[in-house]
Amino acid sequence: MTTLQDIQLINIPVVEDRRGNLAFIQEKVLPFEFKRVYYLFDVPSNSFRGSHSHVNQCEVLIALSGSFEVVLNDGKEKKSFLLNKPNFGLYIPTGIWRELENFSSGAVCLVMASDMYEEDDYIRDFDQFLESKK
Ligand code: TYD
Repeated sequence: MTTLQDIQLINIPVVEDRRGNLAFIQEKVLPFEFKRVYYLFDVPSNSFRGSHSHVNQCEVLIALSGSFEVVLNDGKEKKSFLLNKPNFGLYIPTGIWRELENFSSGAVCLVMASDMYEEDDYIRDFDQFLESKK
């Protein structure tokens, strides 16, 4: 059973250059092999995203631009992370409820996921999530 102890902040390698910085993600940077990338952008500041957990999939979230908060819940405890640096990834293992909120203007949230989009992998009902953690 996953808990908040399993969350990781991942340092993404960056090549610094006077021309600007370059960050890269390849095999072994993330604790899983990713099969899908998606991103959230133009998110209104009063909007909430997420509100679900996954049965099998895990994800890494990166604030490519701007900032937003990610509130994680393992069914017992909650912890909030402010993502505002493009060289840090927040690793969310399977079985963790997430809420994304307080998006700054221009924020872009990149998500790298362990598998293809599959609605059956989502738990979107909080009570059902709590039940799954028993
Ligand atoms: P949703 O899971 O509600 O987004 P978030 O959790 O980031 O707030 O997804 C919104 C819609 O987009 C929903 O109809 C499912 C669809 N979708 C895809 O088609 N492919 C994807 O990879 C993702 C993440 C969502």
